[in-house]
Amino acid sequence: MFTQDELKQNVARAAVQYVLPFLKPDTILGVGTGSTVDMFIDALAVHKDRFQGAVSSSERSSARMKALGISVFDLNQVESMPLYVDGADEVDHDLCMIKGGGGALTREKIVASVADRFICIADESKLVNTLGRFPLPVEVVPMAREAVARRLIRLDGRPGLREGFITDNGCEILDVSGLIIDAPAELEQTINNIPGVVSCGLFALSGADIVLLSTQKGVRQIDRLQVGDLES
Ligand code: 5RP
Repeated sequence: MFTQDELKQNVARAAVQYVLPFLKPDTILGVGTGSTVDMFIDALAVHKDRFQGAVSSSERSSARMKALGISVFDLNQVESMPLYVDGADEVDHDLCMIKGGGGALTREKIVASVADRFICIADESKLVNTLGRFPLPVEVVPMAREAVARRLIRLDGRPGLREGFITDNGCEILDVSGLIIDAPAELEQTINNIPGVVSCGLFALSGADIVLLSTQKGVRQIDRLQVGDLES
């Protein structure tokens, strides 16, 4: 039996194999945040001379990449990226995700939006039928915290302030439990429209394109197109 850390390690290595054909001297990769991504960065660093560098979704990932000799670019310097690689707290069968366990959700959404393809790397414990068991992170402007919390309660959520945590954008996180998310894209839009919300950790309006899912039997690739095929 692989431990959860070993599963993460396996998918991190598989992700590097996935990105290798995209690495050219002028390639810039989008790189997310989290413990799985940390392992991806470590494995990617071996190939650092094969590509130009990366745009990162957090100060944490930027620091790790710089320490390993991967050049880190500001998103404002970059027009396109073939791939964005990041983890998830939950992913469903339509490849919608909850993200933000590490608090980097807003920058994750921004960097992902510039990349051609979102590659989600996760161990099998993250695959769910319905999103919402993991409390949904919502980044808020501090002065709006209580006002946003009241609106989230009206949506049947139970928001709790992530104590002692300030995001890289100088904002706060409300972790919202109790939500049963059977219409993720609609809920994402509703929460994003609450004044004071910077962004919410639902990635459904634009989800993953490919999930590399680490299982006890190996790493499985789930493709958005295959999901469509299965549904039709
Ligand atoms: C950070 C994230 C992470 O991708 C998510 O929390 C998964 O993290 P891990 O790989 O440590 O399980 O969204 O904001």
